[in-house]
Amino acid sequence: MPDGRFESWLSSLEARHLADLTFPEVARALRALSSAYVERRQKLADGAAFSGAGKRAAFALFYAPLHFLLVERIVRQLQPVARPVAALVDLGCGTGAASAAWAASQVDAEAVGPLVIGVDRNAWALTEAAGTYRTFGIDARVRRGDASALIDLPPRSRPAAWLAAFTINELTDADREALLPRLLTRACEGDAILIVEPIGRVVGRWWTVWRSEFERAGGRADEWRFPIDRPSMVAKLDAAAGLDHREITGRSLWIAL
Ligand SMILES: C[S@@+](CC[C@H](N)C(=O)[O-])C[C@H]1O[C@@H](n2cnc3c(N)ncnc32)[C@H](O)[C@@H]1O
Repeated sequence: MPDGRFESWLSSLEARHLADLTFPEVARALRALSSAYVERRQKLADGAAFSGAGKRAAFALFYAPLHFLLVERIVRQLQPVARPVAALVDLGCGTGAASAAWAASQVDAEAVGPLVIGVDRNAWALTEAAGTYRTFGIDARVRRGDASALIDLPPRSRPAAWLAAFTINELTDADREALLPRLLTRACEGDAILIVEPIGRVVGRWWTVWRSEFERAGGRADEWRFPIDRPSMVAKLDAAAGLDHREITGRSLWIAL
């Protein structure tokens, strides 16, 4: 992003999250968080990822910028088949990184970006997301709620895009099963859907079902691998936690009929 908004966002995150915590405390929390993402997915369904200031800071300073960079690149690759949308709903928005990446790239292209609606069940995440959208100058609302229920859209907000980045894997099996047909119905009505998840064992068998349903409905599935210049805080935390994100990866499901 050439205009400095991404860097301003990172600076404000560092100033706030490192005000009350030391770097080693955040690095320790990152190690706990990354092992929770790899090994203990069930605990995440209970909201464990955001339990404690250290894990919240680690998520905001490390995973959120990486999710931003990944979604920004995925949307750029899908852009030839994407079209402007009036609203962008971010299901399980967390700190707002993924929808900010998508919306900010649309603002560059068309001057007026979509209305972003961030939905999450976690109050801390919603406060962070509101700050993220403000920093990027994005017209946005946040709503506390269940991502699997799908919100009613305000008037004049179709076609919409529905984005779920690193969220579907945290839903219960029942919520996931209920959500899939709801999303595909929206796609049939002209909305776009983008699902992003990590590559690797941590994503369950549900991916195969979702993938074939998306493809059957006219969508596509992709795996992505992008080399990046890591933001300096991400590089420092990578080193401190024994991780390496010089290359970011992910997989996506996309449909825009
Ligand atoms: C791994 S975080 C991803 C956040 C964000 N999408 C990103 O890419 O950085 C998953 C988010 O989904 C939210 N979440 C999980 N299950 C949810 C549900 N049933 N309803 C609403 N939000 C949910 C969590 O609170 C968390 O903010």
